[in-house]
Amino acid sequence: MKVRDLQDRICKLKKITNTAILAHCYQGREICEIADFTGDSYKLSVDAMNIEAENILFCGVHFMAETAKILSPDKHVYLSKKGAGCPMAEQFSREYIAKIREKEPDRAVVAYINTTAELKTVCDVCVTSASALKIVRNMDAEKILFVPDCNLGDYVKRNVPEKDIMLLDGGCPVHRAVTPEQALEVKKAHPEAMFLVHPECRPEVAELADYVGSTTGIIDFARNSNAREFIIGTENSIVEHLQYECPDKKFYPLSPDLICRDMKLTTLPDIYNTLVGIGGGDGEMYEILMDEKLIADSRKCIDEMIRLGG
Ligand code: 13P
Ligand code: SF4
Repeated sequence: MKVRDLQDRICKLKKITNTAILAHCYQGREICEIADFTGDSYKLSVDAMNIEAENILFCGVHFMAETAKILSPDKHVYLSKKGAGCPMAEQFSREYIAKIREKEPDRAVVAYINTTAELKTVCDVCVTSASALKIVRNMDAEKILFVPDCNLGDYVKRNVPEKDIMLLDGGCPVHRAVTPEQALEVKKAHPEAMFLVHPECRPEVAELADYVGSTTGIIDFARNSNAREFIIGTENSIVEHLQYECPDKKFYPLSPDLICRDMKLTTLPDIYNTLVGIGGGDGEMYEILMDEKLIADSRKCIDEMIRLGG
């Protein structure tokens, strides 16, 4: 079946089943095109709270669908592909962080939203890459433990030097794999290009950038800049989306390996099958089910994120 025909069927099924599709911008174009809401983790969290449809189908990774369920507990929330997870979200257990809290009781715990709901129950506030600086600046606490991403944590530390920020050795395996040598090579190949980098990359890579910012920050910077060429230091779907949106500019990937395999597990047939399942047919679907206490306990730090970051 042609992509366009499958997209049409998906759009019809969305209406019949009263389902809203949320797609993280690391999904490919063919998926973003059929979504009702697209964006980064922060925007999609806020979108999830305000959805009227009865069902939410999240195209992304597990912690994102889990966050949507926490924020919209009365809805049925489905993840587009069973097993699509963020490896960083699993790096530290609730027990491990609870032990550090015991030893350092005056340190507030800031969790990147790329964490499990379990871990969020022992954290004070969540952040996304787009909101981390603002939230950490707005917190009353002077001493902070930032988990799990030490590269994003280092970026926060440099930009909020007035706070005492403790880091652990976690991070995104996709972004942290890029080396400064690779970055220098790509810069050499495209000397006119501006270099835009996500703070999940290593600090030695970020130091070479003209701009460091979240997915949304990178997109907005490239859209609004008068420059004509850009090296994009984040997941390669952003190169694809920007090239589509700004055909007169040129976008180069920082590395061909900047591909999040988990984000790319979802396909249009997965979305179609989930919608068939929601409609009562025999399509395979994966619903996020959480007990009420876990929802309530993990929600506190997401609400705090929206209060301090909004
Ligand atoms: P955003 O916070 O920019 O959505 O990023 C999510 C993510 O997984 C980054 O790797
Ligand atoms: Fe997780 Fe990295 Fe993939 Fe983002 S790009 S979902 S942080 S593994």
